[in-house]
Order: sequence, then C-alpha cells, then structure tokens
Amino acid sequence: MDSMLPGAPWLVAHKSMLKPNQPMRISLLGQDYVLWRDENGTIQALPNACPHMGAMLSEGWCEAGKVVCPYHALAFDGAGCTVLPGSNKPTLPQLKPLELIIQGDFIWSYGGAVPAIPIPTIANEIAQDYEFLGISADMSIKTDLLNLLLIMHDYNHQNGTHRSLFRIESVEFNQFIDNGLQSHAYYDMPRSQPSFAEIRQNPAVLFMPKTINAHLENHFPTLVVFRGETPIGSIRQVHVMIPESPTQSRTYVLLYGKSNHPLFKLMKQNVLDLTTTVLEQDGAILEKLYSDRPQKIKLNNEVGLDWVRRNFASFPAVAEPKLSRL
Ligand code: FES
Ligand SMILES: [Fe+2]
Repeated sequence: MDSMLPGAPWLVAHKSMLKPNQPMRISLLGQDYVLWRDENGTIQALPNACPHMGAMLSEGWCEAGKVVCPYHALAFDGAGCTVLPGSNKPTLPQLKPLELIIQGDFIWSYGGAVPAIPIPTIANEIAQDYEFLGISADMSIKTDLLNLLLIMHDYNHQNGTHRSLFRIESVEFNQFIDNGLQSHAYYDMPRSQPSFAEIRQNPAVLFMPKTINAHLENHFPTLVVFRGETPIGSIRQVHVMIPESPTQSRTYVLLYGKSNHPLFKLMKQNVLDLTTTVLEQDGAILEKLYSDRPQKIKLNNEVGLDWVRRNFASFPAVAEPKLSRL
C-alpha cells in the first residue's frame, strides 16, 4: 500500500473521457471501480464487482442515473443501493461509493484513503488560459508507481528511450527549484535535424524547435506539466500518473494549446500522436527493467530522480527542500 502513496490525490479522469451513460472502468490503489456520468452530468463511482455474482459493472449500461449490471440487470444508484425483483423499495447500500472530488473538468479521488496533501490547482489554471486539445497516451503500464515517476523526472532518458524521435544531441541542465512537493526543472535540448522518413512518419517533428527549451513544473506525486513553445503556438501538457495496483500504473496526457498560426490546429492530431509515441516508448522501457537492482552508477542531472526518491521516502511528510541548484 505504501508503494502507492495513500493520502495523495489522483486525477482519475478528465470529463471528456466519460461519455454520457457509458460506464468506464478505472483502477486505483488496488481496487477496480466503475465511473459513470448520467444525462444530467452527475458523475458517480462504485466498486466494479457486482455484489450479486461479481460481474463487472463497467461492462453494463446506464439507466435513469443508475449503472446496470450486464449479468442479471440489477441497477445500482450512486449510493450502491438496488431494487430487487419483486420488491419495490431500495436495499441498503451493497457497495461503498468511491468519493470523487470534481473541480471543473477534472475528476479527482483519494481512493478511499485519508487525504494527506491537497489537490493541486495547476490543471484548472491551465484549463483557464489554454484551449483543451485532447487526451493522448492513456495507458496502463506494468510497473510500479515509483518507476513511473522516476522516468517522468529523468532528464537523461531522452538520449536513450526517445533517441530516434527527438534526435537530442545533449541535455543542458539550467536550473532546478525545489519547493518540497513542488519543483521546477529548466533544461535545453539541442537537436539534430530529422530525416525525411521521420518527417513522413510524424510531421509534428518539423515543428519542434532546433533547441527544445523545457520547463517542467512538478506536483508530487501525480502531475508533471510540460511547457513547450514552438514557432506556431504554445503547448501545455499535463502528464498524469496513477497507481492502479502495486505493480500496475496508469498514465495519460491532457494536451492544451494556444495558437499563433493556422497550422497549429492542423498539427493538433500529430502532436497527440507524437505524445502517444513518447509514452509508449517510456512504457516499453519500464516493462523491461530489473527494477530491484540497486543503482550503482550516477549520471549528471539526476536531481529529478533525487527529488522523487526523497519525496517518496518521506511522504506524506514534506522533507526539507534542499535540491535547488543553478
Ligand atoms: S452479477 Fe450482477 S446482477 Fe447478477
Ligand atoms: Fe519519456
């Protein structure tokens, strides 16, 4: 359980993921839940196993604000009550609802744990200033939360994991600002030019600047915000990390943007696809780690890794911030 940081808030979904009356399955802290939104926009969540014979409620449908089991069609309301055939009054709750905290388009949950740290407001701030462009890379990776966080805060892995995609020549680290559970990392990545084959495969690489000036704003443990400036517009990516179980983690990216050029709109799908490719590359590496081995070699610019490991070890207490460097 500790490996999943109980007490942290998790951004389990963005409203656009929930089609009205279409149940969705999520996993959080070792439990499966069904999440649904009715035609009035009310969003509710229950454990996914039907209390009758264990069918997945997420495979069912919705009716009059309730989720209906696909096996014998018992309908459950948001409190977990159902009306049995031949009866005309609801039962006592048969399932304990998952508590959701909905802020704008963002659906958060502490997964039933006692809240230990507040919900970050950064996603709402970005949603206010930028246009929502879509979701990419929603995937479940066979890795634990710690390893997923480590790759997200690893400023060297572009050289290997994303080598072909970005053609990064080096990572020039500028600054790390340690504010405890929040931090900022600033670094530049000069790139060599993509080949024609690469451009044909993903034209979005054409709009990547000669040097990527990265600014990551990190909110431990769940969000990393990447700010990217391109000649045709600004991009904001909200990377989300969620512990599904001790050995399985989910990630997805919410893409926001501000356009300076008509081409920006056309490139939207390419940027979403590029992001998916990036996260697939991360997932492929994470699923091929001997992650129980102690780290015997340390590279430069591993301050993000130090920050993750320190916060992980002291969570939910906030360790004294002392990793800042110029
Ligand atoms: S298993 Fe759900 S109604 Fe029977
Ligand atoms: Fe990566």
